[in-house]
Amino acid sequence: MARTGYVHGEPDDDEVCRLVRQARFVATFSLDTFEAPPGARVLDVGTGVGAMAAELVRLCPGIVLTGVDVSRAQIERARALHPVATYVQADARALPFDDASFDRVHMSWVLEHVVEPLPILREIRRVLRREGVAHLSEVDHDTLVVEPPLEELARTMASMNDAQRASGGDPCLGARLEALVREAGFTRVEARRVLLRGDDAHDDVRGELLVQFAGLFESLGEALEADDMARALRVAAALRERGAGSLVEYQPVVVHASG
Ligand SMILES: C[S@@+](CC[C@H](N)C(=O)[O-])C[C@H]1O[C@@H](n2cnc3c(N)ncnc32)[C@H](O)[C@@H]1O
Repeated sequence: MARTGYVHGEPDDDEVCRLVRQARFVATFSLDTFEAPPGARVLDVGTGVGAMAAELVRLCPGIVLTGVDVSRAQIERARALHPVATYVQADARALPFDDASFDRVHMSWVLEHVVEPLPILREIRRVLRREGVAHLSEVDHDTLVVEPPLEELARTMASMNDAQRASGGDPCLGARLEALVREAGFTRVEARRVLLRGDDAHDDVRGELLVQFAGLFESLGEALEADDMARALRVAAALRERGAGSLVEYQPVVVHASG
């Protein structure tokens, strides 16, 4: 089994709800530049419970979708909850597909959890046909801004990030995604930071970001020591109470790669 820095627990019902809600939100800013015609062969790497797979099919009806995940539990959940793809349990460092067998590869929020991102990116390039496009989204937790400042937020972010790094992940992977993609051999690479700004003029974005980060903290469970977890829960509760007059900003990274 691949060692992963996944710190948000097994896919129980709460975690599934969090991932489905996250996917709906993510699709609004990440998949706006994803296109695939009917019949296109699309691979979703690290598909989890298939939440983004469902969004891919909703936005691009008629694609022929395959979802891969290393976790048997996630694949079983995906098959039951989002039967929109052929789901395969496999390690993305050794994808069980022929060279050039996909027109598009999608991958969201996976590399942040792995010890070695490069072998996965090289495998994505191998299974993608040369004119195909890889569409990758990654986090950069250093970009989170909350105003007015929230006491204990910095320590909670630090304990979540430490837990992720201790299990081999990188909570700021987005900052080096473009360089990694080039190192994996892709020659045409477009990287963009998506500025998500939630304030009084963008109340829906604010509400969603607050709920997403509260959910992330609540899902840490056994990844944190008891004191750190108690603090994370206090911060999550405070985020859920925020509203008018507050600001929250976050900048994930989206990369399109081909060649
Ligand atoms: C945060 S989830 C993201 C799920 C989905 N992409 C989404 O956006 O909702 C990360 C997923 O990557 C999977 N994963 C981690 N390392 C992997 C590997 N080496 N091969 C395949 N899947 C992997 C985990 O099992 C987990 O389901």
